[in-house]
Amino acid sequence: MLQEIKNKAEKAIKEAQTLKELNRVFKDFLGKKGELSLILRGLNDLSEEKKIKKGKEANKLKEELRKSFKEREKEISLKSQSNEEKGIDVTIPSKKPLMGHLHPLTQVKRQIISIFRGMGFEAVDGPEIENEWYNFDALNIPKDHPARDAWDTFWLKGKDPSLLRTHTSPSQIRYMEKYEPPLRIIAPGKIFRHEATDASHEMQFYQVEGLMVGEDVSAANFKAVVKQFLERFFEQNVNIRFTPDYFPFTEPSFEVAMSCLICSGEGCPACKNTGWIEIAGAGMVHPNVFKFCKLDSNKWQGWAFGFGIDRLTMMKYKINDIRLIHSGDLRFLNQF
Ligand code: FA5
Repeated sequence: MLQEIKNKAEKAIKEAQTLKELNRVFKDFLGKKGELSLILRGLNDLSEEKKIKKGKEANKLKEELRKSFKEREKEISLKSQSNEEKGIDVTIPSKKPLMGHLHPLTQVKRQIISIFRGMGFEAVDGPEIENEWYNFDALNIPKDHPARDAWDTFWLKGKDPSLLRTHTSPSQIRYMEKYEPPLRIIAPGKIFRHEATDASHEMQFYQVEGLMVGEDVSAANFKAVVKQFLERFFEQNVNIRFTPDYFPFTEPSFEVAMSCLICSGEGCPACKNTGWIEIAGAGMVHPNVFKFCKLDSNKWQGWAFGFGIDRLTMMKYKINDIRLIHSGDLRFLNQF
């Protein structure tokens, strides 16, 4: 009997949508003539023992129902309150989600890809873990060649000597092994060198390799492409300087420098007070490199370059210390 009343009452409480309806339910069960009140009043007719047992159960149910009424009353009142009564101001601007943005190096990398694509170059990828063949031998740097010392290498332990690539030049070999010229590619990516850091040197940085091979590709083409690229990248005229250099995989080789845009050529830590900053190594592809890639060096000729992406980023945004770029400092990064 009590269980039946409990089920009925709880169902009715739940179904009540207004305070008026809830009041009526209260009267039906707990009012003077309510079902539960009648039971409580009828206890007098029972034996002492039954009176105590039933009385306890009925009073417990009464308490439970009172609690359910209170809770439902709260729910109904809250629902019927206006936002203002609830203390909600819908005109307050909401919290904006924090939006991140691309790292300046990624932005620069994408700009470089886009400019070179516009000149018909395909962007390709290469592995960061290389073996000696691609990083050195196929680039005409045999074992014990002093040029290996120019790139302080991180060697990885293991059976076949592998290493963290010290430049993006291995991408040239990987591409020419697979594809016949004529070709025009760039290969941007991360590289690693075990060297001391300063305002213009990092241990981990980015390069973009460039390679153009055809039957009559000349150094004049190289000059035109580099000038075009730099002027589009910096959106201004830039002074470029080519000086002789040495790389075993190019002959002749040259160093490409541009006038320092940070100090306008007057001298600063980034350009080591010279007014010029070295941005690329380059040259005409060495015949031995073609030979290693099984290409006929009498038929094909071309040029290659390796730009430092971090250095280009420094020049573009007038950053006077390369270490800031890799610092992960949000005060720095939020400016881009
Ligand atoms: C090379 O790495 C050659 N592979 C470039 C090359 C490619 C030559 C194709 C010929 C043909 P180099 O070590 O000079 O060369 O590095 C090229 C560029 O990377 C430099 O001009 C400079 O812009 C950048 N660079 C070199 N070392 C660092 C460093 N520690 N931190 C930041 N940028 C660097």
